[in-house]
Amino acid sequence: MADLSGASGPGRLAGKSCVVTGAANGIGRAVAERFAREGASVVATDVDGDGLRRLAERLPQAVTTVVGDVSRDDDARRMIRAAVERHGRLDVLVANAGVIPLMEITEAGADDWDQVMAVDGRGMFLTCKYAVEAMSGTDGGAGGSGTGGAIVCVSSISGEAGQRGQAIYGPAKFVASGLTKHLAVEWADRGIRVNAVAPGTITTERVARLYDEPGGPEYLAAIEKRHPMGRLGIPSEVASAVLFLASDDASFVTGVVLPVDGGYLAQ
Ligand SMILES: NC(=O)c1ccc[n+]([C@@H]2O[C@H](COP(=O)([O-])OP(=O)(O)OC[C@H]3O[C@@H](n4cnc5c(N)ncnc54)[C@H](O)[C@@H]3O)[C@@H](O)[C@H]2O)c1
Repeated sequence: MADLSGASGPGRLAGKSCVVTGAANGIGRAVAERFAREGASVVATDVDGDGLRRLAERLPQAVTTVVGDVSRDDDARRMIRAAVERHGRLDVLVANAGVIPLMEITEAGADDWDQVMAVDGRGMFLTCKYAVEAMSGTDGGAGGSGTGGAIVCVSSISGEAGQRGQAIYGPAKFVASGLTKHLAVEWADRGIRVNAVAPGTITTERVARLYDEPGGPEYLAAIEKRHPMGRLGIPSEVASAVLFLASDDASFVTGVVLPVDGGYLAQ
């Protein structure tokens, strides 16, 4: 098994204080594990307390956990404060938590729209807001260092182009891509870089559940063929791109939405 301890070398995020939302499963867990291996101190947050506990048991030196819902103002603030209180500052936020409904607009009601916008839209806004405040030292004396930082939002190919069955989910990912560009321009001169990744279809817990949902297997068979590389991605491939954008290797990169999609968006 891979060494996830972060003890084998200084790593590309050595000494960095990082928050990852939605870290109990899928892409977020892969990011938290990769960050730990690269020497980061990670505050892993999620609504799934059991999943967080399992992650922290595997990486006790590198990971602390906060159970909370990114769509709730107090919870989002608490996630960022946990990093500041524990490590004295926040260097990196990965705004990853999200829900992914698969439905056409005729099947959806107002509640479906509100739920995805609350988590994928408002949750991303809230966590970015409190991260920017900590990174810029405008957090009202809460302890942020004001020494800048890096934010990576997890958007999607559905946040860059239209897809069948994604009219409820995709617009929320356009929020992620849009927020990324606006915040990048607004905060560039104060040392905060803001980028996004736009994953293609990735084999996470959420995508595995699609096999049991109406229309899910057909959707997955069709979408796999639409990825020019002829396969779906895996979470660690997204984590590698997130690591690049979060690290000093990307020191002159801001406002970018980086596809991690086997060529999907190039078509
Ligand atoms: N899997 C894909 O194909 C794919 C493709 C493009 C983008 N994405 C994006 O990647 C991110 C992660 O997706 P995934 O496939 O890993 O999903 P997943 O369901 O496997 O993991 C998402 C995690 O977010 C958590 N979460 C959900 N609602 C939350 C809330 N309100 N507050 C805090 N945590 C919450 C879940 O408990 C879960 O642990 C999402 O933003 C998704 O839109 C996924």
